Amino acid sequence: MARKFFVGGNFKMNGTLSSIKEIVANLNNANLDPNVETVIAPPALYLLPVREHLKQKTVEVAAQNVYDKPNGAFTGEISVQQLKDSGVHWTILGHSERRTILKESDETVASKTKYAVENGVSVIWCCGESLEEREAGKTLEVIANQLAALKKEISDWSKIVIAYEPIWAIGTGKVATTQQAQEVHASIRAWLKKEVSEKVAEETRILYGGSVSEKNCKELSKEADIDGFLVGGASLKPAFVEIINCKL
Ligand code: G3P
Repeated sequence: MARKFFVGGNFKMNGTLSSIKEIVANLNNANLDPNVETVIAPPALYLLPVREHLKQKTVEVAAQNVYDKPNGAFTGEISVQQLKDSGVHWTILGHSERRTILKESDETVASKTKYAVENGVSVIWCCGESLEEREAGKTLEVIANQLAALKKEISDWSKIVIAYEPIWAIGTGKVATTQQAQEVHASIRAWLKKEVSEKVAEETRILYGGSVSEKNCKELSKEADIDGFLVGGASLKPAFVEIINCKL
């Protein structure tokens, strides 16, 4: 089965009501590749207006985080059930900014991923190594550990898209080379084949994230194991359309 190309736009804690409306209008007016699945993740406050204004059938919205309890005394959190109630069927989980700044462990991320997929919300699950880890030759080990924590919790992988985001490439303008990205993507796929199943390895989309732009996306998209992108800064710009359309 061919894997459908996937482009995520992670707005992070950026934008205002009016700037985000402009981004949505730009997407609505664009001719988007119908073979690409696109998901944009504005700050939680803007999920509903974005969902209401989006006119493109191939573009959905995602939360940037979700909690693993249905409701209750969890100040500041949003539940999977509330996302679904608002027509939001995707969330990002395990972004390195949440892992490092908010100290989310591999286990916390795995538990939240389990809760989301079991309750019907698809997950863009992020992994990646720091610069020190890469320089110490530990990239594949770090990612295998992150995946192993996920595997303990997950039996159905069909609602998971994996995003490989080397931390040193995020927001730095320093994109991984196509070879560096392909090497890690191939190793993630090999891990899935060995540790989960051949089917899951074949079907799971593996995105690259970290300084993706309209300039480097075409080249990266040609690699065999790169099934799309998770875009930060460039998803806030009109050039995001060029990234979505990089296969045309
Ligand atoms: O989740 C996307 C991300 O972390 C990459 O950010 O700004 O380097 O594209 P950026």
